[in-house]
Amino acid sequence: MNLDREALTRVIAVINGKGGAGKTTITANVAGLLAHSGYRVLVVDLDPQGNLAEDFGYTGDPIDDQGRALAQALAFGQPAQPAVGVRNNLDVLIGGHHLDVAAASLAAAKDQVAARLSLATLLAPLAPEYDMVLIDCPPGIEALQTAAAAAARWALVPAKSDASSRKGLLDVARRLDAVVGLNPGLDLLGVVLFGTGSSAHRIKGEARDLIVEALGSETAVLRTTIRHSEATAHAARERGLLAHELDDESRKGPAWWQIRRGEATGTANSPRTAGGVADDFHSLTSEVVERITTAEQREEVTV
Ligand SMILES: Nc1ncnc2c1ncn2[C@@H]1O[C@H](COP(=O)(O)OP(=O)(O)OP(=O)(O)O)[C@@H](O)[C@H]1O
Ligand SMILES: [Mg+2]
Repeated sequence: MNLDREALTRVIAVINGKGGAGKTTITANVAGLLAHSGYRVLVVDLDPQGNLAEDFGYTGDPIDDQGRALAQALAFGQPAQPAVGVRNNLDVLIGGHHLDVAAASLAAAKDQVAARLSLATLLAPLAPEYDMVLIDCPPGIEALQTAAAAAARWALVPAKSDASSRKGLLDVARRLDAVVGLNPGLDLLGVVLFGTGSSAHRIKGEARDLIVEALGSETAVLRTTIRHSEATAHAARERGLLAHELDDESRKGPAWWQIRRGEATGTANSPRTAGGVADDFHSLTSEVVERITTAEQREEVTV
């Protein structure tokens, strides 16, 4: 198969077969911050749940075709057209329930190599238009996760800091290993601990040990952890705003305590915790860029 791997060197699969690990939130926020700082970013929603629509706030918008175009492109090898300008510098290949059909057709395809490379093939002509491409992977749905792993240069793995996440990490490691024949350049960018309590140092330490044990690498865990905040998570999805956008909003309007004391009327714009969560995503985004650029510089030296 004639696939231009050079075009795919900045493709990141945000992947973990376990549900609720933070894949969609991390994809949306890292992509949003990269775009905000001037990178041209393409986001691929590869999940039939289509949760990215809530995070970016395009649910019910005419651009939201529930993954129909992406599903057809994957199943029939047609070119795909991203929805342009979801944010400045940020376009999206929109996902949703139509991807269930695409997944079934990829799983049943006679030519399994072509099926596994369907996303890589679809992205190769699009990716050179962008500085970074992020794929939000579904939980379960092997055919789609495999297609993402076969398309990506990097795997970014969100994980919760509980013991049951160890099995999820072992599954991710197996899934990445399984595509190495098709995609020898695939590398682990890192594991990011998601939704951790800010004071739970002991738990974070134990989680790090579990990850190192599961993946066999000391450098697997990123420095940044994303702190737990249900208030920010809820407000973000309800309002279709990223953490840094919620934080900006909160600077504009009255604070919750001013409203409670009767010093201002209306509703508080954003939860107080949005700023801290936004800081975590800033730091994660810097770390992602740092790891990728360091690897690219190393490759340049050895070429
Ligand atoms: N900082 C946070 N603290 C606590 N909960 C959060 C935080 N950010 C997001 N959440 C919530 O955690 C849940 C899981 O997050 P998310 O949807 O990003 O995970 P996922 O891995 O994409 O899930 P799925 O496997 O279903 O696609 C969501 O309900 C989300 O709103
Ligand atoms: Mg998700």
